Amino acid sequence: MSHSEIRKAVIPAAGLGTRFLPATKASPKEMLPLVDKPLIQYVVEEAVASGIQDIIVITGRGKRAIEDHFDRSFELEENLKGSGKAQVLSQIRRISNLANFCYVRQSEALGLGHAVLCAQHLIGDEPFAVILGDEIIDAPTPALAQLIHVFKKRKGAVLGVQAVPRSEVSRYGIIAPRRLAPGLHRVEDLVEKPAPADAPSHYAVIGRYVLPPAIFPILRKTQPGKNGEIQLTDALRQLAKQSPMFAYEVQGQRHDAGDKLGFLIATVEFALKNPSLGPPFSDYLKRLRLNTGGPRA
Ligand code: G1P
Repeated sequence: MSHSEIRKAVIPAAGLGTRFLPATKASPKEMLPLVDKPLIQYVVEEAVASGIQDIIVITGRGKRAIEDHFDRSFELEENLKGSGKAQVLSQIRRISNLANFCYVRQSEALGLGHAVLCAQHLIGDEPFAVILGDEIIDAPTPALAQLIHVFKKRKGAVLGVQAVPRSEVSRYGIIAPRRLAPGLHRVEDLVEKPAPADAPSHYAVIGRYVLPPAIFPILRKTQPGKNGEIQLTDALRQLAKQSPMFAYEVQGQRHDAGDKLGFLIATVEFALKNPSLGPPFSDYLKRLRLNTGGPRA
C-alpha cells in the first residue's frame, strides 16, 4: 500500500450543536436535512467521491441516529420492496454501501483536536483526511479530491482555505500564507479565531484537511487553547514548524450549514438546483416576490 493514497477520513460529529438550538437539543445537528439528505450524508458522499473507503465518525451522546442512517434498514427495505418502490429502495440501499463505517465515542467534548486524536488507533501510520460537516462545499470536483490532488504532488499536509471578509476572520482558523502558485500557498503559521486586527491574512481554513500521522503525537501534547478546547489549529501550528504544510484555495460554493442563516441559504440553493423541486420552488419564490436573485447559473 502506497502511503500517498488517502483511504481514511475522520468526520468529527460529537459537537453539541449549540448554534442550532433548540433543533439540536435531542437530535444530532449532522442529521438536519438539506432538502432530502442529512448534512452528514453530503460530506460522506464528498469523501467517497474523493476516493475514501473508510469513514471514521467521532460521535458522542445523542448521536445514534447517525449510525442508524448509514446502516441497513431491513424493515424499511422490505416495506419498499413489497410496495414496488424500486427507485427509493436502491437509494436507501446505496447509503449503507457508501463506505466502511466506524464509530468512536468521544466521551467529553474537549475540542476538535481531541476528536481527531480519538481516531488515532483506526488511522495508524498513514496520511488521512478530516472533514467537518458544518461546511457543505458544492463543487464540480469534490473539495477533498482537490486537496488530495495537491497532497500527492507536494507530499505535505494540505488545508482547504477560502478568502473570507476581514470582519469574519474571528470565526475560523486563519493561515499566514506564502504564495507558491495560483491558489496554492505554503502555510508559515496559523492561528485559531484571531481578532481581525491580529489575523495574519484573510484565508480561512474551511473544514477540509489532509494530514500526516505525525499530527497524532503533537495532538497528544497539545494543551487546551482558544475556548479551553484542544484545538486542531494549535497542533497544525506545531506541525507546520517541523514539516511542509500547504493551503489550497478550494474551488466551490461553500455553505456554513452549522449556522441558521447559512443553513437556510444552503437549503434554498440546493432546492433550486434539485431537478424535480427546483422549478416549482423557483415559481413559489417568484410568487412571494422575494428578491433572491434567482437560481445560481
Ligand atoms: C473549526 C476549526 C477552525 C476552522 C473551522 C472551519 O472551528 O477550529 O479552525 O476554520 O472549523 O469550519 P469551529 O467551526 O468548529 O468552531
